[in-house]
Amino acid sequence: MVDLSVQLGALVLRNPLLSASGTFGHGLEMEHFVSPESLGGWVSKTVTLEPRHGNPAPRICETEAGFLNSIGLENRGVDSYLEKIVPALKGVDAVIFTNVGGASPDDFVAAVERLEEADEVDAYELNLSCPNVQGGKLPYGTDPKMAEDVTRRVRDVTKKPVFSKLSPNVSRISDMAKAVEAGGADGITAVNTLLGMSVDWRNGTPGLATIQGGYSGVGMKPVALRCAWDCVRSVNIPVIGCGGISTLDDVLEFLVVGCSAVQIGTASFSNPSLLAEMAEELPARLAEAGFDSVRELIGSMHGLERPGGSSK
Ligand SMILES: Cc1cc2nc3c(=O)[nH]c(=O)nc-3n(C[C@H](O)[C@H](O)[C@H](O)COP(=O)(O)O)c2cc1C
Repeated sequence: MVDLSVQLGALVLRNPLLSASGTFGHGLEMEHFVSPESLGGWVSKTVTLEPRHGNPAPRICETEAGFLNSIGLENRGVDSYLEKIVPALKGVDAVIFTNVGGASPDDFVAAVERLEEADEVDAYELNLSCPNVQGGKLPYGTDPKMAEDVTRRVRDVTKKPVFSKLSPNVSRISDMAKAVEAGGADGITAVNTLLGMSVDWRNGTPGLATIQGGYSGVGMKPVALRCAWDCVRSVNIPVIGCGGISTLDDVLEFLVVGCSAVQIGTASFSNPSLLAEMAEELPARLAEAGFDSVRELIGSMHGLERPGGSSK
């Protein structure tokens, strides 16, 4: 029996497979494809203090590999989440991460303070990185001081684990990783979508109403892998890899570069059962390669050095 459990700070997950925010509803919608007990955890869509209508259509656009979105964090707000979603999460056998967004540090703090009443929420993931609000200019995503400040302010109002989700749209993601670690994050999710755009040259129409949006799916995997590795070697907190993962080999690549877990987003749109299939196949794949536990693989890449000199 291969031991699949992984540790993310104080959280123990039964396996390293998580859904990515915004691609899996709040989790329950997907239950007949992926049962909660087959997963390490569920990450909710971003919840904001106030309801948000999101961006104008079209807000999804296919590309040669993966797609562009500019949903704009549409959601019904934290009060509706607490009233309608949280009661249904009671007794669900999965670690629940609630992803929180906001237009200001005060918004993040107020939303988390409201969520503190919900025992069903096991951890927070702070969306410091959505490219689809404020015209792609959300400063937490690119300014280490602001990212540190938001993380610290949330850290101060909760005892639950806080994961800061970073943007790949920066020149040095290691600076962002160190900043949120300094702000007290228990872990990092690396990464959100890449900024991209598409256009039909025949009629000059952009693929998205907002022109630019977030690019996700298989095409971004090498960028996401590099970002995750760069975070791993810059901080001593756990890193959750995300971006372009669509096969079990992809999952194992993110683990070998040092991620403690992974999130899968866009690939679930073409195969909603993918996460369950991966969870089923993972033990045999590790056993074939001679591993007794998934933790033996984590961070085993040659030449990987973590801060403090440890090679794992
Ligand atoms: C349609 C769509 C909606 C998304 N919504 C959110 C969101 O609400 N909050 C968030 O933090 N990330 C959101 N993301 C980003 C994903 O969680 C993930 O970071 C990104 O898509 C890269 O992973 P992937 O290539 O596996 O999809 C969204 C992505 C997509 C495609």
